[in-house]
Amino acid sequence: MPDGIEVRSARPDDFDRIVGVVDDWWGRPASRDLTRLFLSHFFATSLVAEADGDLAGFVIGFLSPSEPDEAYIHFTGVAPRWRRTGLGRDLYERFFTTARAHGRTTVRAITSPRNTTSIRFHESMGFTSSEPIRDYDGPTLDRVTFVRHLDPAQPRQPGRSTP
Ligand SMILES: CC(C)(COP(=O)(O)OP(=O)(O)OC[C@H]1O[C@@H](n2cnc3c(N)ncnc32)[C@H](O)[C@@H]1OP(=O)(O)O)[C@@H](O)C(=O)NCCC(=O)NCCS
Repeated sequence: MPDGIEVRSARPDDFDRIVGVVDDWWGRPASRDLTRLFLSHFFATSLVAEADGDLAGFVIGFLSPSEPDEAYIHFTGVAPRWRRTGLGRDLYERFFTTARAHGRTTVRAITSPRNTTSIRFHESMGFTSSEPIRDYDGPTLDRVTFVRHLDPAQPRQPGRSTP
């Protein structure tokens, strides 16, 4: 975690600030893939990183309501000035910890085949990536899918008294 960064759970009202940086941070129009519902309904499992109150990064993710073993990361971004500092890794590790604590053993995500940075980042985070899947999200919307196994959370050891 870089110095000067604070991470907290997201709030519903973070939506406006996050959607406002997406096209800039992605370097292309991408904000249409992030709608308000993700912050309204998944803020508790999503994370925001700030530096002196400025948005430095975020992870929008949730525990699958339909697949009890799975968690899903919908969107993640790190401000250009904070990239390659380990912030994306830190945010993912925090999300994995939450997912494990809720008994989730699989994390999934997707990206566009052209987003080679995202593919490298996810592979470095232990995800297996697919080949591009044609029309995955509808006509012309090809996607690469990612899947990562999470080891189950260790049960708490009962405290041992010292002699
Ligand atoms: C993808 C993204 C979130 C990565 O965030 P980050 O904070 O820069 O990532 P980290 O510093 O934690 O990098 C972790 C590892 O991922 C890999 N990685 C990250 N960026 C990379 C790049 N540009 N090229 C190659 N590998 C990269 C490296 O293995 C890196 O470890 P290292 O720096 O020790 O070599 C960031 O580049 C970003 O916001 N991109 C624009 C938005 C986007 O495409 N989001 C993902 C799709 S939803």
